[in-house]
Amino acid sequence: MISSRSSLKEIRSVGLVGGGVMGSQIAHLLALNGIHVVIKDVSNIILNQTILHIDKQLDEQILFNKRRVKREIDRIEGSHGFRLTDLQKATLRKKLRTASVKINKKETLSHITPTLDYDDFQDCDIVIEAVIEDLDLKKRIFKELDNACLSGVILASNTSTISISKLASCTRRPEMVIGMHFFNPPLALPLIEIIPGVHTASNTVESVLDFSRGLRNYRRMMEPMIVKDLPGFVVNRLLLSMLREAFELYHYGAASFEDIDKALKMGSGMPMGPFELADLIGLDVLYDINRSMKLSARGKTMRGADRVLKHMSSMGLHGRKTGKGFYVYNQK
Ligand SMILES: NC(=O)c1ccc[n+]([C@@H]2O[C@H](COP(=O)([O-])OP(=O)(O)OC[C@H]3O[C@@H](n4cnc5c(N)ncnc54)[C@H](O)[C@@H]3O)[C@@H](O)[C@H]2O)c1
Repeated sequence: MISSRSSLKEIRSVGLVGGGVMGSQIAHLLALNGIHVVIKDVSNIILNQTILHIDKQLDEQILFNKRRVKREIDRIEGSHGFRLTDLQKATLRKKLRTASVKINKKETLSHITPTLDYDDFQDCDIVIEAVIEDLDLKKRIFKELDNACLSGVILASNTSTISISKLASCTRRPEMVIGMHFFNPPLALPLIEIIPGVHTASNTVESVLDFSRGLRNYRRMMEPMIVKDLPGFVVNRLLLSMLREAFELYHYGAASFEDIDKALKMGSGMPMGPFELADLIGLDVLYDINRSMKLSARGKTMRGADRVLKHMSSMGLHGRKTGKGFYVYNQK
């Protein structure tokens, strides 16, 4: 796959379909990088929630940056048992200030335009789809995007499991369709799985790689990685097998979900247990992801895991976003 730099498409404006957990964070990340984002969802109520969510996350990050110096001073003094001098504190303050991403909340928010209409994607160089993990819905959206967007616009999907080639086949531009799989939360996790479909052109891949490499989240530069168009790609394939096994253990009463989380954190150094991770992802989203993986594996998945996910999802226990999943969360 060789393409000259001059054939690369410069991406300055992005359309996003879906302003939920992932869409809102991707919009936040892009706006932080000065990229203009047009975000489409199905109602003004949802779009208002999306903008409010980004607004709140920006406030939290500003506060986090402000408290960072004090936290770091406390950490150094606490672990080494001595007090830093004023000069050392000033040096540390300067170092941390340079290392933190500068946030201009008003400017960041000004890069985001909410919409209910595909017409507002006219000036976008790429559109990233981030609606729920449902093959029929995603196919419909790719058809609509193909009709609504100019022929030079790249169409990407943030799908966790669905074949990019299948989505590309719903359009008249399969060479410009690609997977761009961000991880939750993209504001902290740098990986983006870049998934070419069978017909994706090399300059589409290169343009998206080039664009992704230029982005940074609150911690570091993003790290795009090309992966094959297989169900679940790389990370979700690995993570899901662990999550399903955890649901099986829970279903058959091997231990409480709290203890399974504790076991993995204490016994294998994982930063988060499988049930905490499931609540973060969203149990409704996981239910769809599991179903989609099951379809591509011709039904061969674990029954206990299927039952737990189905039960939690049908009860509206979707995890952090509904305030209750396996754990209960304080909704401020
Ligand atoms: N949640 C995660 O941890 C995670 C991580 C990586 C990738 N993903 C993938 O990202 C995608 C979105 O997941 P999510 O967690 O953000 O889901 P979500 O349920 O939080 O958000 C989906 C959004 O899509 C909107 N939507 C539905 N139909 C629409 C339409 N026709 N037009 C415009 N908007 C529409 C919904 O109103 C909702 O706001 C899925 O494909 C999922 O597999 C999720």
